Amino acid sequence: METVITIRNAREGDAEGIAAVHDASWRDAYRGIIPGRELERMIARRGPCWWQSAIIRGSRLLVLDFDETIGGYTSYGRNRVPSLRYGGEIFELYIAPEFQGLGFGTRLFEAARKDLAEYGYPSFLVWALSDNERAVQFYLKLGGRLVRQATERFGPETRTRVAFAFQ
Ligand SMILES: CC(C)(COP(=O)(O)OP(=O)(O)OC[C@H]1O[C@@H](n2cnc3c(N)ncnc32)[C@H](O)[C@@H]1OP(=O)(O)O)[C@@H](O)C(=O)NCCC(=O)NCCS
Repeated sequence: METVITIRNAREGDAEGIAAVHDASWRDAYRGIIPGRELERMIARRGPCWWQSAIIRGSRLLVLDFDETIGGYTSYGRNRVPSLRYGGEIFELYIAPEFQGLGFGTRLFEAARKDLAEYGYPSFLVWALSDNERAVQFYLKLGGRLVRQATERFGPETRTRVAFAFQ
């Protein structure tokens, strides 16, 4: 039987699946970048209950659905840094490790971009940790322009993050 892959709005019932993707892809992406204790804390805060309330609140949240298995998600909305003149922001974009490198990140990104434009935000930002080489390469390949650098604190340590602009 053929696997049906769709990108759709998150709905109630997706919270467990999104939390599982979040957990696996954050561990995979940030181990060795974000100090372990902080990383575990950040993951623990984002369990199924957190995602369920995000879905109920109506946050902009798209999922990659493989025959009812969630393989990735993206959340986006209004840019949180008003001094940067870009209307929108992709807050998060994560593909489960087993589905990475197959073009799904690009598909989710394009779906979020289209939805942001429909909301009146044709220009938007995405932040990534500069040590997250895969994400940096991904956003550069998609045509992102590096427009800002900032530091973020993780417990006792700091890391550099960079903003990519798309317009
Ligand atoms: C970054 C991420 C969203 C990319 O999605 P993906 O489905 O794996 O990427 P795609 O298959 O669409 O790849 C698109 C391009 O990104 C770049 N890229 C993807 N994976 C890469 C890797 N491991 N190393 C270097 N470049 C990579 C390539 O330029 C690739 O184009 P190519 O296949 O023509 O070479 C995904 O790998 C992911 O979720 N990673 C972990 C979490 C993360 O870092 N999220 C972003 C946080 S800001």
